[in-house]
Amino acid sequence: MSSSAPIYLQNLVKTYKKIKGDKADAVLAVQDVSLEMKPGEILGLLGPNGAGKTTIISILTSLESSSSGGAFIFGHNVESNDRAVWAQVKNLYGLVPQEIVNHGFFTVYEVLTFISGYHGIKNNRERIEYLLRRLALWDHKDKKVAQLSGGMKRRFLIAKALVHSPQLLLLDEPTAGVDIELRNTLWTFVKELHAQGTSILLTTHYLEEAEQLCDRVAIIDKGKIKRVGPTKELIKSLTQRRVHISLKSAVEVLQSPYLISQTPTDLIFKLPSTMVLGDLLSTTKLDTSKVTDFKIYEGTLQEAFLHILDEGRA
Ligand SMILES: Nc1ncnc2c1ncn2[C@@H]1O[C@H](COP(=O)(O)OP(=O)(O)OP(=O)(O)O)[C@@H](O)[C@H]1O
Ligand SMILES: [Mg+2]
Repeated sequence: MSSSAPIYLQNLVKTYKKIKGDKADAVLAVQDVSLEMKPGEILGLLGPNGAGKTTIISILTSLESSSSGGAFIFGHNVESNDRAVWAQVKNLYGLVPQEIVNHGFFTVYEVLTFISGYHGIKNNRERIEYLLRRLALWDHKDKKVAQLSGGMKRRFLIAKALVHSPQLLLLDEPTAGVDIELRNTLWTFVKELHAQGTSILLTTHYLEEAEQLCDRVAIIDKGKIKRVGPTKELIKSLTQRRVHISLKSAVEVLQSPYLISQTPTDLIFKLPSTMVLGDLLSTTKLDTSKVTDFKIYEGTLQEAFLHILDEGRA
């Protein structure tokens, strides 16, 4: 193993065994996944329900064991039996899990103090206060975790993942069930961590947010990686740009392979994202003095995502 990437997955396989009495076959949740994260990037791990995202994160964080292959954090094998390796790895990452874990008996502040101790930090008051204030939880610090609302519990999980200032942050659906205002606050915070050099793995079903945040995305379906690439390049190569042109008055019917609809006052074109608009206008020989409005709709990550899933299923 040569890579010291924040995350390196090497032909990772995970099969969940049949549960006793369950007639269903064993579940092949992760099938031969290889993936290397770049230092300091925000990498989106995107896929439909049941694609294997949480399973990968669970293997990386030792909540599940792999069936074969390897998973490495900053070059350390997460399944090493060496306790010294584990002691090092646990301080390198922070996990915001998809499932909300209950710490019912303790207060927010107490749990964050315990977790700091778990990471070997004795006096972490400043960091805890900073995180609680940033995540608008300071006023709730003395509440028992069980008394928090769903959205507050998520914010608490984010504080918990960051008490030890990890270099790698694993965010598994961090904004599920979180209101729009808080989502924006969270993303601002994530961008700040990114700017400070933290590597961030993000799973989310909010593809608009992934499009804005992720430097690269890996699309996974039924346990297999379908595509990995820079977000913008994937969108460009897999989607088309729509151009809507409004007209003062009717023009004659245009002949263009890119024209998908023409009414007397509206023209709609679909172009490869790489085509320049000047070429469209010159090839259609449109009388531009009749144009009253011009709107361009760029392709989205959601379109690229659906295209990739369709390819695999066709
Ligand atoms: N503990 C488990 N025992 C058996 N099967 C499991 C277990 N956990 C997950 N699975 C199965 O493994 C597959 C992958 O599940 P996983 O939770 O990794 O998907 P996901 O991509 O995180 O989905 P979601 O977007 O819904 O969170 C699914 O078919 C799921 O039913
Ligand atoms: Mg999941």
